Amino acid sequence: MSDKLAAVILAAGQGTRMKSKLAKVLHPVAGKPMIEYAVETAQFAGVEKPVVVVGHQSDQVRALLGDRVIFAEQSAQLGTGDAVKCARAALEADAGHVLVFYADMPLFKPATMRALVEKHLACQATLTMLTVIADDTMSFGRIVRDANGQTVRIVEEVEATPQELGIKEINPGVYCFRAQWLWENLQALKPSAKKGEYYLTDLLGMAVGQGARVETETIEDVSQCIGINNRVQLALAEKIMRERIRERVMLDGVTLVDPASIFIDADVEIGQDTVILPNTHLQGKTRIGQECKIGPNAIILDSVIGDTCSIGPSVMEFATLEDHVDMGPFCHLRPGAYLSRHVHLGNYAEVKKSRLGEGVHMGHFSYLGDTEVGAHSNIGAGTITCNYDGKQKNRTVIGENVFIGSDSMLVAPVTIGDHARTGAGAVVTKDVPSNSLAVGMPARVIRKWNAGNE
Ligand code: UD1
Ligand code: MG
Repeated sequence: MSDKLAAVILAAGQGTRMKSKLAKVLHPVAGKPMIEYAVETAQFAGVEKPVVVVGHQSDQVRALLGDRVIFAEQSAQLGTGDAVKCARAALEADAGHVLVFYADMPLFKPATMRALVEKHLACQATLTMLTVIADDTMSFGRIVRDANGQTVRIVEEVEATPQELGIKEINPGVYCFRAQWLWENLQALKPSAKKGEYYLTDLLGMAVGQGARVETETIEDVSQCIGINNRVQLALAEKIMRERIRERVMLDGVTLVDPASIFIDADVEIGQDTVILPNTHLQGKTRIGQECKIGPNAIILDSVIGDTCSIGPSVMEFATLEDHVDMGPFCHLRPGAYLSRHVHLGNYAEVKKSRLGEGVHMGHFSYLGDTEVGAHSNIGAGTITCNYDGKQKNRTVIGENVFIGSDSMLVAPVTIGDHARTGAGAVVTKDVPSNSLAVGMPARVIRKWNAGNE
C-alpha cells in the first residue's frame, strides 16, 4: 500500500452562529480567510492539493480557492462522518493515508499537524489523532480512556453522561487515517442517538473495538485548538494570531514600538532593522525592506517598500516604493503609484497610477494621477493633474529635470518636455516643449456682479 498522504478539510457546515452572508471559513483572521490557513497547513504536511468539502455558500469558497484545491460537494450536512464520505471519490485512488481536519480552526500550527502525520506513519497506525487537555472544554468531544489509560472512544458533548462531561481531555479534531480502513469503516457509521448525525468521531471507538492500532498525540498549547463558531471566538482567534505574528517579526529583527498597537497581517514580510511605530497597520501581502521607519499611524495595504524608506502617517494601497524613498506625513498612495529611488513626498501628496522617476520631489498639497514624471523633476506645491475630463482619464507626461511651479494645473492629455518650467498658477492645456517656460491664465474681470440682484 502506498504511503502517499491525502488531506480532507471539512468546510460544508452552515456556520449559523456567525450570523453572516459571508461563508464562515472566508472570514479573515489577521487579514487572511480562515480556509487559507487550512490549505496551507495541509500543504505544509506534504499534500499539494487537499480536498475541501463544501456545502453551504460553496460558490464563495470555490471562487476564493479556485484550482488550488480539489472540491467535494456535500449536499446535505449530515455530519462530519458523512462529509468525509463525500471526499472519497475526489481523492486519488492511490492515497495511503488521509489527514482530516476542520476548516474553522485556523490556529493550528502547521508543524503540529506535520508531527502528527510523522507519528502516524512511523507507528503504522490505523488512526492517529490529536488530543488536548483543557480546563475549558469548549463543548468539544471528550476522549474516553479505560483504567489503563488506553483510548476507548470519543463522546460528543451532547451525547455525554454527566461523568463523561467531567473529562478534561478533548478532541481538537485532527485525525490521520489509514485510507483503506477509513473507506471501509465510514460505511458502517450509524446516525447518532441525539442529533441523528454521522459522527466522524465514532471511528475511534470502531478502531479500538477491532483491535486496530490507535495512537494519540497530546498537545499542551490549547490556544491552537480554538474553533470559530461565532464572532466572539473570531475576535479571540484574531488576537492570538496577531500576537504570534508580532512575536515572529520581532524575533526576525524588526523593532515594534508598542507592539500591541501594531497590526500586521499574516502574509506581510518585513526586513531586518526596520522600525514600526505605534498604531500602524500592515495589511495584505505588503513587503517592507530593511532599515525602514514606518509610522506612526501608517496604513499600508498590499504594497511593496524597498530598503531604507521612511514613511510618516500615511495611507498606501497597492503601491510600490524603491529604496530610500521618504514620504509623509499625510500622503495617500493609491493603486499603481510607483516611486523610484530617492523620491521625496512631503505632506498631503496624493499619487494614483503614476510613476515618479528617481529623485522626484513633491513637497506639498499635490495630486498626480495617470502621470509619468522623469527623474529629478520638482512638483511645486498645489500642483494638480486634471486627469479626468468628465468622461475618461487622460495621461500627463512630465520629462526629466522639469520644474512645475506652484499651483500649476496640468490639463491632460498633456506633455511637459525635459528641462521645461511652468510658472506659478499656470493652467497648462497644451504640450510644453523641452527647455521652455510656460506661464499664464491670469484672472480677468469678465462681467459685473451685483450680489443683491441675482
Ligand atoms: C467536532 C467534533 C468534536 C470536536 C470539535 C472540535 C464531530 C462529530 N465532532 O464537533 O468531537 O471536539 O469538532 O472543533 O466531528 N462539517 C461539514 N459537514 C457536516 C458537518 C460539519 O463539512 O455535515 C464541517 C463544518 O463546516 C466544520 C467541521 O466540519 O468545519 C466541524 O463541524 P462542527 O459542526 O463545527 O462540529 P463540532 O460540533 O464542533
Ligand atoms: Mg465546530
